[in-house]
Amino acid sequence: MSLRLLLFVLATMMGISFGWAQEAAPKPDRSATGGAQTLEDIMARQRGEAVDNGFRSGATGDPDSAAGLAQQLGTLGGASDPELWRALRFGSANITATNNGPAATTLIQDGGMRWLQFREGPLLTYGGYLLLGTIVLLAVFFLIRGRIRIDGEKTGLTIERFKPVERFGHWLLAGSFILLGITGLITLFGRKFLIPAFGHETFAFLAVGSKWIHNNVSWAFMLALVMVFVFWVVHNLPSRTDINWLLKGGGIFTKGHPPAKKFNAGQKLIFWSVIILGASISASGLALLFPFELNMFAATFAKLNDFGISAALGMGELRTTLAPHEEMQYAQLWHAIVSFVLMAIILAHIYIGSVGMEGAYDAMGTGEVELQWAREHHSIWAAEEEARNAAQGSGNRATTPAE
Ligand code: HEM
Repeated sequence: MSLRLLLFVLATMMGISFGWAQEAAPKPDRSATGGAQTLEDIMARQRGEAVDNGFRSGATGDPDSAAGLAQQLGTLGGASDPELWRALRFGSANITATNNGPAATTLIQDGGMRWLQFREGPLLTYGGYLLLGTIVLLAVFFLIRGRIRIDGEKTGLTIERFKPVERFGHWLLAGSFILLGITGLITLFGRKFLIPAFGHETFAFLAVGSKWIHNNVSWAFMLALVMVFVFWVVHNLPSRTDINWLLKGGGIFTKGHPPAKKFNAGQKLIFWSVIILGASISASGLALLFPFELNMFAATFAKLNDFGISAALGMGELRTTLAPHEEMQYAQLWHAIVSFVLMAIILAHIYIGSVGMEGAYDAMGTGEVELQWAREHHSIWAAEEEARNAAQGSGNRATTPAE
């Protein structure tokens, strides 16, 4: 899946909650309130329209406009309490804090409710439907197409497809991803579904355990991601055979198999999805693991604005001044959205690597595949391997001992 499409998914989903794509409301006449907000401002916000807050964020008083404390009739400064609160809310107050954590001087941030509503609403709903929809689609596909069988006579011989170290990398990736997926879903869906079903006490136990597993297993996932990238990147570079393979739909619904090298175009798409989306999930995950230390969204939004991508996607100018907490909120949403997309892709991968195709699992199970399977699904690679084995005089291995 391309980055552009991902951005579009994010934009579409966030547009629902954040109203990025909406037009600004006409400027209301605020003379009656002396420049303060009017009923129309409040109503516009409640309708979800974008209200330019400049008239409030700028109205923070002028401390120098009053007589200094030491003077006769001196005051604490020329800013009223409401003006001070506005300065706190819009992040322009001059604050010193005794603790010096990264977000210590942000006393008020107002992204929390938007984030919470999006997390409990569209994120849960669309994310849940995406996973359930993928499972239903795979079940329907299985009913229509059935298991993809090895068409020709089996040879009784095998060739090596993956070395033990490659299989270790794959299963480390798979095992960690599945654990991260399950514990992530428990964390996300817990409040809505698990607390009503099992009660607070059981969920508290599950939540603490999930968090511990999720935080620690993430390192195994990142390590495995690097391993499979190094092992397989060369075999996943695009080649001309991929176009033919894609045009023929991988031969899934037709007779015969389009030629393929070690990985066919479908697998290359899976590989690059795993690498790109996995790296993006890792980056946002690290931002969550080390709160307020890795702020990426304001900078990314600025780049999207500069390259005109946000405008092209109908999102207008994205905000480039984000409170540290908002950075975390975006990191959480991005982490979850991209994970949902990758989980859906991986469901399809697990299907085709197990029940969906005869002979596929052995590649990662024993590392050896039936020669006929290799000739049908990866004809170019199989021919190369056979030639190499013949040249080395090693031949192919018999699946059953010779009688
Ligand atoms: C129980 C779950 C899984 C099963 C049964 C499974 C099975 C397989 C098999 C049989 C292959 C080799 C295909 C071939 O010989 O051409 C493979 C490759 C691969 N797997 Fe998995 N896998 C699982 C989970 C995962 C997960 C969770 C990920 C990533 C998060 C993953 C990523 C990959 C990648 C990148 C490849 C190489 C490209 C490809 O063949 O699509 N797998 N898997």
